Amino acid sequence: MQPAGLLMLIEIWCILMNENLINVDNLKVYFPIRRGIFLQTVGYIKAVDGVNLKIKQNQDFAVVGESGSGKTTLGKSIVGLIKPTRGQILYSFGEKSFDMSKELPIDVRQSVQMIFQDPFSSLNPRLKIIDTLKEPLEIRGFLRSRKEIANYLGELLEKVGLKREYLYRYPHEFSGGQRQRISIVRAISMKPKIVVLDEPSSSLDVSVQSQVLNLLQDIKKEYNLTYIFITHNISVAKYMGQKIIVMYLGKIIEINDPDKLIDKPFHPYTQLLLSTVVEIKSEHVEKEIKIGEPPSPVNIPSGCRFRTRCPFAMEICAKTEPPLSDHEGSLVACHLYSNKKKEISVNNS
Ligand SMILES: Nc1ncnc2c1ncn2[C@@H]1O[C@H](COP(=O)(O)OP(=O)(O)O)[C@@H](O)[C@H]1O
Ligand SMILES: [Mg+2]
Repeated sequence: MQPAGLLMLIEIWCILMNENLINVDNLKVYFPIRRGIFLQTVGYIKAVDGVNLKIKQNQDFAVVGESGSGKTTLGKSIVGLIKPTRGQILYSFGEKSFDMSKELPIDVRQSVQMIFQDPFSSLNPRLKIIDTLKEPLEIRGFLRSRKEIANYLGELLEKVGLKREYLYRYPHEFSGGQRQRISIVRAISMKPKIVVLDEPSSSLDVSVQSQVLNLLQDIKKEYNLTYIFITHNISVAKYMGQKIIVMYLGKIIEINDPDKLIDKPFHPYTQLLLSTVVEIKSEHVEKEIKIGEPPSPVNIPSGCRFRTRCPFAMEICAKTEPPLSDHEGSLVACHLYSNKKKEISVNNS
């Protein structure tokens, strides 16, 4: 058999086996709080506090949770922009495995991309679009001449509904929606496998939001991408994810298929999130949960971190942290259910 044929067979086998692309293993990201003239460390903001996750090819996750729950920090860690304080993120690329916090070969590094909430943040206001977009391609080196690069990027601009000529304009000449389309081009131009999208539509006008979300769905299919889609909006999560991950104070507290999670949320915090969405009214929210403020990520409550807001809190909740375990097909970290089932390792299988 020709080597190319063999490679294709291996690739098909990997897809069939649904291999893990990324293994997030007990990830902790703590930001030190420094005070005084010697900038002594007086405490830590526990932005991500023990996350385990297996990301498989073509299994899109949507990550939801209130502001400050650690979604962005998790996303940045996955693409290697933030180094873990503890734990690690292993990325399978071909037959090899790489630690995302280490120095990586450029093709490996570029195959995990991030799209940010503010499209301005990935576009240099002083550079023409082509000059911002060509830089990572030049580093990668798979296109040689300026003409080749302009052709490649021009085609991608057309794919996202923009004109080729826009390559020669500056970011301020575009609307928010157009800038986000340009950020999408920047990400996909590097031929990624995984894209972390951090609230990519939430800074846009409502009328433009759905266009961008639809575009992202089309792009995903065309380029065979796997999305980790961060949002605080459960309706958007339902549209973009095959599984929804609910985060609370740096930890995953529930994972389920969107329809099941919305129809029957188990964790009281998931119930709280759903109760704030007018268009989704779940029948399974048993007690009214007062919204209130989450505790500080510097002083996380002992045991279950949600217990200080939970109307169902029991004695055990202050003592023992509930593990994420299977309950009627959902993975949920709550003592209300933990007596009824066997504990399983955190896995989204
Ligand atoms: N670079 C940083 N330095 C210090 N604290 C940070 C930093 N980035 C995030 N945080 C804190 O970590 C917590 C989680 O933040 P973030 O990951 O942005 O949450 P989310 O995206 O869910 O709103 C917040 O309390 C935030 O203030
Ligand atoms: Mg965020």
